[in-house]
Amino acid sequence: MTTPSQSTVTDKTSNQETLISSNDISANAKTHKLLLINGVNLNLLGKREPEIYGHTTLADIEKKLVARAAKYGIELICIQSNHEGKLVDEIQYYGLLAESAAQVDAIIINPAAFTHTSVAIRDALSATQKPFIEVHLSNVHARESFRQHSYFSDIAVGVICGLGPLGYQIALDYWLTHTYNLKLDS
Ligand code: DQA
Repeated sequence: MTTPSQSTVTDKTSNQETLISSNDISANAKTHKLLLINGVNLNLLGKREPEIYGHTTLADIEKKLVARAAKYGIELICIQSNHEGKLVDEIQYYGLLAESAAQVDAIIINPAAFTHTSVAIRDALSATQKPFIEVHLSNVHARESFRQHSYFSDIAVGVICGLGPLGYQIALDYWLTHTYNLKLDS
């Protein structure tokens, strides 16, 4: 029987149904984790150029997504940094440096300005071999030309831009349905 804090999910790699709860992190148990990464200056959301990035804070976005993931029994880990090397460290930490059962299953990333500059973060994501979705709040294609090149898009599963905070939720829902075979409430 499934309690509210538990969910039944199908692990695509083993095709087995597993009962998980947020407390289920015993040594070899496969945890069900997603990683949300936000890059440089996104800690300023809500204050930073609201006519472009809106009034919603990063804390609000993260809170909503964490709750949505938890509702389906999935842990969403949120990180933000203004430092490229710190983001590389975090991607390694939740990827190859973690035991395989503890690694995140998929990633949502808004690299912010690092989108247009960072071979290092691109390489860190490639090294994890975890699928990722690239998200941008603004429509980068309708802005300055330097924003139209991304070091991430060609290796992303998908790219969402211009939809504001909803873009993150669409990315999360994609992973909930495609990584864990969950049926979401409409
Ligand atoms: C951004 C777009 C980037 O070009 C910019 O540098 C950002 C935010 C977005 O979410 O729209 O900082 O990634």
